[in-house]
Amino acid sequence: MKKYFVTSALPYANGDIHIGHLVEYIQTDIWVRLQKMRGNKVVYVCADDAHGTPIMLKAERENLTPEELINLMHIRHKEDFASFHIEFDNYYTTHSKENEILSSKVYFHLKDAGLIEKKIIEQFFDEEKKMFLPDRYIIGICPKCNSPDQYGDSCEKCGATYSPTDLIRPKSALTGNTPIKKRTSHYFFKLSSQRCFDFLNNYVNSTDTLQEEARNKIKEWLKKDEQGLSLLADWDISRDSPYFGFKIPDDENKYFYVWLDAPIGYYASLMNWCTSQKKDVNEYIGKETDVELVHFIGKDILYFHALFWPAMLHFSNYRTPSAIYAHGFLTINGKKMSKSRGTFITARAYLEKNIGAEFLRYYFASKLNGSMEDLDMNMSEFVHKVNGDLVGKFINIQSRCSGFLLKYFDGDVLSRDVIVNMNSFNSDLEEKIERVAEHIKDAYNKRNTSKAVKEIMGLVDQVNNFIQENKPWETSKNIANISVEEMNALHCVLSLAIRCFGKLSILLKPIIPATCDKIERELFCQGNEFLWEDIYELKIDKIKKTSHLINRISEKDVASLVEGCK
Ligand code: MSP
Ligand code: ZN
Repeated sequence: MKKYFVTSALPYANGDIHIGHLVEYIQTDIWVRLQKMRGNKVVYVCADDAHGTPIMLKAERENLTPEELINLMHIRHKEDFASFHIEFDNYYTTHSKENEILSSKVYFHLKDAGLIEKKIIEQFFDEEKKMFLPDRYIIGICPKCNSPDQYGDSCEKCGATYSPTDLIRPKSALTGNTPIKKRTSHYFFKLSSQRCFDFLNNYVNSTDTLQEEARNKIKEWLKKDEQGLSLLADWDISRDSPYFGFKIPDDENKYFYVWLDAPIGYYASLMNWCTSQKKDVNEYIGKETDVELVHFIGKDILYFHALFWPAMLHFSNYRTPSAIYAHGFLTINGKKMSKSRGTFITARAYLEKNIGAEFLRYYFASKLNGSMEDLDMNMSEFVHKVNGDLVGKFINIQSRCSGFLLKYFDGDVLSRDVIVNMNSFNSDLEEKIERVAEHIKDAYNKRNTSKAVKEIMGLVDQVNNFIQENKPWETSKNIANISVEEMNALHCVLSLAIRCFGKLSILLKPIIPATCDKIERELFCQGNEFLWEDIYELKIDKIKKTSHLINRISEKDVASLVEGCK
């Protein structure tokens, strides 16, 4: 048995969950469910990322206090995740007492380690708004390629990165005024120090659960210049007032930058869960722990998770991540999600069209392969895959068999032994499923769900072929005139097919948990949930009539979803 502490990145509290986000939460949830089904111990936590300038400004625009805004968003996020069957053990917020205490603890540890330095820097200041401007709130002409309307940190046209003071004709995005340069003191985490550099090099090479692509990226960041000095810049962890965040404990008017307390929010959420479960948090975050810490993130935040975060943890005497799994970005019909194309689809907009939440889970699962590549959602492929695979093939097995089983055999399902003894058709379908289940489990473990789906659908095809070859509908047509042997053979065919259906639904359960749950409870009348091991010793002796399991998606609904998001 293995123990895991698993996280997904904490979504910002200034907007609704959209289907791009869901790539990550669905991927993590599938992995966590697989681990739990196999009997591993997992605690899966997440939280809202509640601090920072955008949240402060959004609250201001909506005439709310930041606290009011984040409370509203918290409820919405929780509802959205629940609708998509994302089952956190705890969903918390970074604006919590636990997080405040932990953040200042980490800060003082780093300070004691000599890794915090106060420096005076010059930053853009909006005199009308009376605030220093974050990079994203300064717009100007790219100093490299002269493209207009570029942000203060990087150019979307040529990809150059620079500092906002390099921009040509900078303007404040808040007021349109030309900002002035103003001196201010900031706290820096000395990432450029030899100690951090050595630690990070060692960490990157010893953590064997980094994807190769991620490791290469990180190694690039860890390159040295000609003099052999680290190219990593010190990291500014403070912000001036006005800001929505935690006050730096030993300074009058400075706040922690949101990215300092955000990852600590993982630990705070865990801590909050430990309190409710009466568990000792040190069993999870202490240096001696045997629990693996696994982060699922998007590739855009690798820098924070693979450099800042492990260094923060290491130098404040906490355990470091065992694995960081980064995924790519979702595009829709080949393009970036966009409001004008109608492809900025929120979780809510999707659900309002009554398109099953599990369909998105299935579709993403069929695309994800454990790499950092982007993945594309093609709307017509989505419709065809879901209707074809889930309804046309998987549920088809049950529709072809359960009616006859109920009508002629009172829902009784023959056991594996009886089927083997009476076997008139010589099928090793069950054994086949068991053998392939091993590969499917490996694929799930490696987050290669597209491979798992392919293997499962291959088995689904074989079961359908078996039914096709044995044509139970032909025998049933003639039911009044058939011999006892023929009747028994029919019972065998139907029993074997429905048993295979049960096994297939266990294999699919991490992806479509609600449907499989219904299959277990309603069709197979199970009191306890099936576990992965039940594939090898499936005990079912009866089926019952179920309510409708899955509806097809209509192309019309999907088209109106895209229209409605314009
Ligand atoms: N708040 C930070 C994370 C802090 S973690 C300590 C953040 N929030 S986010 O809301 O912008 O993104 C949350 C997660 O969703 C990130 O891992 C991000 O990569 C992922 N995605 C956001 N848009 C996405 C797509 N279009 N496609 C795939 N994943 C996407 O970053
Ligand atoms: Zn440029």
